[in-house]
Amino acid sequence: MELKEKIRVIEDFPKEGISFKDITTLLQDGESLKYTIDKFVDYLKDKDIDMVVGPEARGFLFGVPVAYALGVGFVPVRKKGKLPFETISSKYDLEYGSDELEIHIDSIKPGQRVAIIDDLLATGGTINSVAKLVEKAGGVVAAAGFVIELTDLNGREKLSSYPIESLVKYNI
Ligand code: PRP
Ligand code: MG
Repeated sequence: MELKEKIRVIEDFPKEGISFKDITTLLQDGESLKYTIDKFVDYLKDKDIDMVVGPEARGFLFGVPVAYALGVGFVPVRKKGKLPFETISSKYDLEYGSDELEIHIDSIKPGQRVAIIDDLLATGGTINSVAKLVEKAGGVVAAAGFVIELTDLNGREKLSSYPIESLVKYNI
């Protein structure tokens, strides 16, 4: 299947010069959604994964079905202040300013092998921060999977210590 054909590209969204990759068209096509989840499962099935971790919001869309298919749990990574119990947090830089992500302190057990799933690898800032949270909790980042990789932004270099797989690549 040519997954790229199912991703809608919108120029100049959310601002001038950005070529936005819209995954809603992939999600609304049952065959493409199944293919995407099956590809992640294929990539992860021999990696002894104990837990899938995904950042809000778009990481939830792919992370939960992958966890379900693998028969493991899912840990939501949320923006600061959203989780009700005690948390571990990690700051990360954005184009302007910074943001902070959190997981619950008891969500990952020391030594657990974690797969991080998100829709998009751009600069790698988000996933780097998620990986730090996993490691602070004592987990091992065994794999990271993305639907889309924007190769010109060099996120893969930032994450060079982790095994990474992306299903569709763009030069931006
Ligand atoms: C987008 C996307 C990835 C992240 C990639 O999330 O869903 O999570 O950016 O960018 P990076 O590699 O440069 O960090 P966004 O923060 O826009 O939020 P959303 O998932 O809630 O839409
Ligand atoms: Mg996101």
